[in-house]
Amino acid sequence: MLFDFEKMTPMQCFEFLTGTVVPRPIALVTTVSPEGIVNAAPFSFFNIMGIEPPVLACTVLPGPDGRMKDTGRNILSAREFVVNLVSESMAEAMNVTCIDAPADVEELGLAGLQTVASDVLKTPRVAGCPVAFECVLHADVPLSTSQFIAIGRIVRAHVADAFVVDGAKHIFDTPGLRLIGAMHAAKWYARTSDRFEMVRPTWAEWVGRKLI
Ligand SMILES: Cc1cc2nc3c(=O)[nH]c(=O)nc-3n(C[C@H](O)[C@H](O)[C@H](O)COP(=O)(O)O)c2cc1C
Repeated sequence: MLFDFEKMTPMQCFEFLTGTVVPRPIALVTTVSPEGIVNAAPFSFFNIMGIEPPVLACTVLPGPDGRMKDTGRNILSAREFVVNLVSESMAEAMNVTCIDAPADVEELGLAGLQTVASDVLKTPRVAGCPVAFECVLHADVPLSTSQFIAIGRIVRAHVADAFVVDGAKHIFDTPGLRLIGAMHAAKWYARTSDRFEMVRPTWAEWVGRKLI
């Protein structure tokens, strides 16, 4: 079946994309408002995007009322944000942070989560998240009213000691992080415990095995 994205509404595009592009990693984004309120919200329009400079990107979609979400407003004013990665044990707390609370409510408190000071940013990270990236806003790419891609340049990263196998070599217990991914219908999630291994082929091996 062929689908014409040029004839689809934004909501239809949302349903289509989130129903097909799975699993998506989840960024639990912390920001601070101009009034000093710490905000947290999950984002699955998220991924790593480059290494020189090291960047990641999150898309702030329009809020249900069409207005800019608190996270977006805070990123644009503070020019910084923290991406905290979400493990299975933090799934329910992460879900609470997506509540459509007023801007003066600290969602982390509702979720029973606490913050830890960042190394260089004023924005704190989330205690208990196995990995956190301190990011300064590298660029904001407007998509429509109240919607933009926040490209963050990673300036610091924190990995919980329990998952650091060899810090100097950047070797981590990645499966041990037990990160979760977002699936479809805005309520399904995936674990990362079902893995398989596949070594990348090289041309030299391919020719050597007379596979051509
Ligand atoms: C798993 C998950 C992923 C989400 N991904 C996004 C996303 O990529 N972009 C977005 O704008 N909202 C996303 N949301 C919804 C926001 O988290 C939600 O609108 C939140 O209330 C925004 O909070 P804020 O107004 O404090 O920024 C997601 C929610 C969940 C539970």
